[in-house]
Amino acid sequence: MSQKRKTVSGKERAGGGRVTHTVESTATEALPSTAALLTDCILPGIQGEPAVSPGRSRPDTCLLRGALAEVAAPLAIGPIESLSATATETILRERTNDFMAALRCKAEYLDEHSRRVGLLSALLAEDLGLSREQSAEFEWVGAFHDVGKLAISGEVLRKPGKLSREEYEEIKAHPEYSEALVAPLARLLDCGWATAAVRHHHERMDGGGYPDGLVGEEIPVEARILAVCDAYDAMAGCRPYQDSLAESTIRKNLADAAGSHLDSEIVGIFLGHLTYYRERIYTSA
Ligand SMILES: [Fe+2]
Ligand SMILES: [Fe+2]
Repeated sequence: MSQKRKTVSGKERAGGGRVTHTVESTATEALPSTAALLTDCILPGIQGEPAVSPGRSRPDTCLLRGALAEVAAPLAIGPIESLSATATETILRERTNDFMAALRCKAEYLDEHSRRVGLLSALLAEDLGLSREQSAEFEWVGAFHDVGKLAISGEVLRKPGKLSREEYEEIKAHPEYSEALVAPLARLLDCGWATAAVRHHHERMDGGGYPDGLVGEEIPVEARILAVCDAYDAMAGCRPYQDSLAESTIRKNLADAAGSHLDSEIVGIFLGHLTYYRERIYTSA
């Protein structure tokens, strides 16, 4: 990893002016505009019906692209440089809330999982020595890593049992849809690494991941950071197919996955700070 390492002490954390991290749940009853648009018009699979085009195992890409253009339209309100920092922050907050609400409609665990991965990755990025600015960006990029699951059948996402081969193939499409959904925000926020980070968050160090089968450091470091946080939260949070695992089991699983699935150095730093991360994110949820 090319980034310079830095360990942040507990003292620095206590008074260092870091962003306050809290997990917010969004009520599904009050869907904001984008979520309503996604739910009613664009992605009718959101309540468990077949995704977008009945009879297709994967969403219709052309239809989805058109839908995404509509979702992105509110962002095209002027050149990036004409937006004030406050206006940009407002758009980001609103888009994030909209998409998290839509994810919650799709599968109950998805919005909180997404927000926690954002918070975890922001903390981990800073502990890995990435700049404070980039670390802060992880909070929204991490929250959007699974947003492409909006284009996946709700039945598949909520299925308690083992997925069929076809269902697994459908799930494997979500990072590419996440990339497409994140692109307008990434352009607005001038965040050049965001799209690749979400596209590659399911790659594996040994090349066995998807969508592109990248190996080792071919995988962008930001995607490797997301992968560790995603793996942790998948084991720590409840899913339809699995209860949360004991902390000791999760630590062992992460250590076992280091080198094959996950970046060993990032796992090491993550485990070294995990107690603190849990205090900041999981005990306040
Ligand atoms: Fe994912
Ligand atoms: Fe995830």
